[in-house]
Amino acid sequence: MSSILITGANRGIGLELTRCFAERDWRVFACCRDPQGADALAALASGQKTVHVHRLDVTDPAQINALARELKDQPLDILFNNAGVKGPSPQGFGDTDVEAYLQTFRVNTLAPLKMAEAFVERVAASERKILATMGTIMGSLAENASGGYYAYRASKAAVHMEVRGMASDLAGKGIISVVFHPGWVRTRMGGDSAPVSVEESAAGLTRLLLRLTPKDNGRFYDYRGVELPW
Ligand SMILES: NC(=O)c1ccc[n+]([C@@H]2O[C@H](COP(=O)([O-])OP(=O)(O)OC[C@H]3O[C@@H](n4cnc5c(N)ncnc54)[C@H](OP(=O)(O)O)[C@@H]3O)[C@@H](O)[C@H]2O)c1
Repeated sequence: MSSILITGANRGIGLELTRCFAERDWRVFACCRDPQGADALAALASGQKTVHVHRLDVTDPAQINALARELKDQPLDILFNNAGVKGPSPQGFGDTDVEAYLQTFRVNTLAPLKMAEAFVERVAASERKILATMGTIMGSLAENASGGYYAYRASKAAVHMEVRGMASDLAGKGIISVVFHPGWVRTRMGGDSAPVSVEESAAGLTRLLLRLTPKDNGRFYDYRGVELPW
């Protein structure tokens, strides 16, 4: 049975990705900070027996390592670093709050790398060998012509760079490292005026994940499969 581990699976795009893969009979390791409060995920897991809920705050390396030990015999076809935060508000020039900025980096930048380090051999042991990380067009240097959102943009630009590094470092293991922009999506982060629904975004990402090949290693795609500039 194919398997995927998703962080931040209790709401938003992560929850919908969990649903998409569970409906395809994948084994889904759905991770969230607070399983007790994750009602929608618990409801999904009670109807779909292939969904396994795990507690994971991605900023806690001890929790990451404990989960990696728990899953030490489990190949992971896809490791999906989805969890993310927008960071402090406001984030204009002149607003920089150092601790809040660092916290944004802990979630958006450090956690995906720590997850990859902890689970790399589980991904390498799988059939598809995909290391997927949620970036954003707002982290594209080429596309930033409007400024603002310093902590969010910088944390995502940095995670994009990490994925480029892993695309080189892990290619020898056959791992396909990719970054995704999910669209501007109606979630708690994206807000009500976002044009893309979680269903549309997650369905697009799922289609894309299922057709990735080694030629996609080190690339940056939106949820429709359009390649984006770094
Ligand atoms: N929505 C958009 O328009 C948009 C656009 C571009 C990129 N993205 C990216 O897409 C990803 C998902 O975003 P979304 O729109 O679905 O946002 P969301 O609805 O706000 O969900 C964010 C998820 O991340 C989890 N999370 C945050 N901090 C965490 C931590 N320390 N440990 C574990 N989980 C943590 C949240 O869990 P809690 O419930 O515990 O907080 C939640 O499950 C993010 O990486 C985001 O940057 C979103």
